[in-house]
Amino acid sequence: MHSFHYQNNQLACESVRLQDLAESYGTPLYVYSSHTVTDHFRRLDRALGELAHEICYAVKANSNLAVLRLLAAQGSGFDIVSGGELYRVMQAGGDPGKCTFAGVGKTQDEIAYALHSGIYSFNVESESELRTIDNVARTMDRKAPVALRINPDVDPHTHHYISTGKSENKFGISIDRIMEAYDLAASLPGLEIRGLQMHIGSQITEAEPFAQAVAKVLPLAEALKRRFPLEFISIGGGIGIVYRGSLESGDAVWWHEGEARHALTIEQYVQAIAPPLRRLNLRVLLEPGRFLVGNAGVLLTRVLYIKRALEKTFVIVDAGMNDLIRPALYDGYHEIVPVCRQPGAGTEVVDVVGPVCESGDFFAQSREVAQVAEGDLLALMSAGAYGFSMASTYNSRPLPAEVLVSGAEHRLIRRRQNYADLIAAELEAEEVEA
Ligand code: LLP
Repeated sequence: MHSFHYQNNQLACESVRLQDLAESYGTPLYVYSSHTVTDHFRRLDRALGELAHEICYAVKANSNLAVLRLLAAQGSGFDIVSGGELYRVMQAGGDPGKCTFAGVGKTQDEIAYALHSGIYSFNVESESELRTIDNVARTMDRKAPVALRINPDVDPHTHHYISTGKSENKFGISIDRIMEAYDLAASLPGLEIRGLQMHIGSQITEAEPFAQAVAKVLPLAEALKRRFPLEFISIGGGIGIVYRGSLESGDAVWWHEGEARHALTIEQYVQAIAPPLRRLNLRVLLEPGRFLVGNAGVLLTRVLYIKRALEKTFVIVDAGMNDLIRPALYDGYHEIVPVCRQPGAGTEVVDVVGPVCESGDFFAQSREVAQVAEGDLLALMSAGAYGFSMASTYNSRPLPAEVLVSGAEHRLIRRRQNYADLIAAELEAEEVEA
């Protein structure tokens, strides 16, 4: 469940009307519900119950300091993929001792920074990376805690750009080579083996792939436990959310290729993974990103023009693919709803597009949406994950502002960029040069 709903035909986030926010802060504007974030964290935590676990929020989904602070206050750990994300986590007061560092391309500087900060574990993706971490650790006279990322070769049935646990993907080490990699890790004096890790993909809407991956990795985890003092197994992130029909009341429904089925509930997810993991008796780390923040955010945009072309009607809005790239990159579906609903208004089949000079700059194509007029406000739903964090200034468009709502309160958590921000680093470079 999330905290966006209509009150007297006005879309609100918790108790704040989105129209008021658009008027105060301008558009395009990201708005997040703090209640949704904390509620989703608590629900997952509660569903995991007695299982010894640690939720390490995947920072890449939404790395705003205020969001990180909210989660740190809930006791969350963090899954990071760069030195920059570690910096953000620490600036937000997060505990580096609860951070795992993933990613196939960690640089020596990032490794040294993470070691110096005292992170919990490096999730290592190749033999070469093991050697590099070992080198850096020995130069620093430290031991680096490591886990190896196993590629279980399971099909998560998701978009191929966000599927990671199949043998054709660049991620992890295949099951048949993993023991050798652990032997190598054990032979390197700068390393301390702490766990094992996997992550099969993102926006997974069935429990089955998770269960399959756990079942596949379990015998290996048992074997490793007998040889090394393992502390944890990380099962990654990937829990899918509802992108369609998220505003409807009752049990949310996930539509897939025209066929209705229920979304993956958190209880189903836990049921699929918890019983075998309990038997394994290791600490279980989870790395959810989208599940915690996806439905907690919307992108507000204003209709600039309505252009009636020969074959299509284009609703041109002031947000673009640079603000929210998911539709362009993954064919991602975001529900588009009016901020002020007109009772009795009809619908129209339109393309909702942005101002960026690319044909890929669309939010919906040939979609039936509520009839809108120039100047109206629209909300792109479920934009809390991989929205702002993937935004760019392409076409020299300043990054949008972000606002956090809590009950009846709202505050700016990132000011809108201005034109001077766009060129500041270039002017600085010229000054250094002069
Ligand atoms: N752990 C690892 C190692 C990951 O690579 C990811 C996401 C996560 C955890 C978190 O996954 P989540 O729970 O959010 O599914 N930009 C794409 C999604 C990319 C996911 C990348 N890795 C999108 O907008 O759909």
